[in-house]
Amino acid sequence: MPQNTFDTRLAETYESKWPELFEPAVVEPAVEFLAALAGAGAALEFGVGTGRIALPLSRRGVRVHGIDLSTAMIEQLRAKPGAERVGVSAGDFATTKVSGTFNLAYLVRNTITNLTTQDEQVECFRNAAAHLAPGGCFVIEAYVPELRRLPPGQTVHPFTVTPAHLGFEEYDVATQLAVTHHYWLADGQAETYSATHRYVWPAELDLMARLAGMTLRERWAGWRREPFTGDSGGHVSVWEKTHRARRGGPVTRRAW
Ligand SMILES: C[S@@+](CC[C@H](N)C(=O)[O-])C[C@H]1O[C@@H](n2cnc3c(N)ncnc32)[C@H](O)[C@@H]1O
Repeated sequence: MPQNTFDTRLAETYESKWPELFEPAVVEPAVEFLAALAGAGAALEFGVGTGRIALPLSRRGVRVHGIDLSTAMIEQLRAKPGAERVGVSAGDFATTKVSGTFNLAYLVRNTITNLTTQDEQVECFRNAAAHLAPGGCFVIEAYVPELRRLPPGQTVHPFTVTPAHLGFEEYDVATQLAVTHHYWLADGQAETYSATHRYVWPAELDLMARLAGMTLRERWAGWRREPFTGDSGGHVSVWEKTHRARRGGPVTRRAW
């Protein structure tokens, strides 16, 4: 079972630590995009957290179920208006099964990188495929690793530098792991948070999707369908479960 770093302290302050994530300009395009893929079917969110996306998606009329490892994050979700309409299961989204078949499974905000081994990330794709109806879609929103910013010999990349928040990551290119560090400063006090991530390129995710019986349908630089280019810092990728895929297993190749 992966280690969960979203403890009570972080869960209670999630929204105040990352207020920009809750801006309507950020949430609404994501909800719009996901609602269109869910259609009249149900949606499954991996790493549902405090319901930043699940709650507005549910308000749009989509039946949403979420999986999360952190009981502290689930507690925050449960306290929000409309939470009674969102089903939640506590567990690891790489392996936890929930009942029902879904048109859409999704994993936003770089959360695929919380799985710190390739095997776990592959399992996550298999778990998504196991829950999808044929033709259903798995969506991931994640950053493109920033290795081009690292000159030889340098391992640290700062991604947020403001008087109130310093965030940087330490890359280990040998293990494909990055440890992110956050320092929030307020009233002369510092609060810190560090976590290990397995960064992953879109092409490797495509291969994981194939192993799980899914193929790439769309890739954008953002929820508003901005074109994905070599300079894009992030991507929203959509893989479709092929109609031939067996539940939970890869498509087998025909022997000629
Ligand atoms: C960055 S937060 C994103 C929460 C929410 N999706 C959002 O967009 O605000 C990542 C969430 O994934 C959960 N998480 C991380 N690894 C997990 C795992 N292996 N299984 C289930 N949940 C996990 C954390 O507990 C946390 O709630």
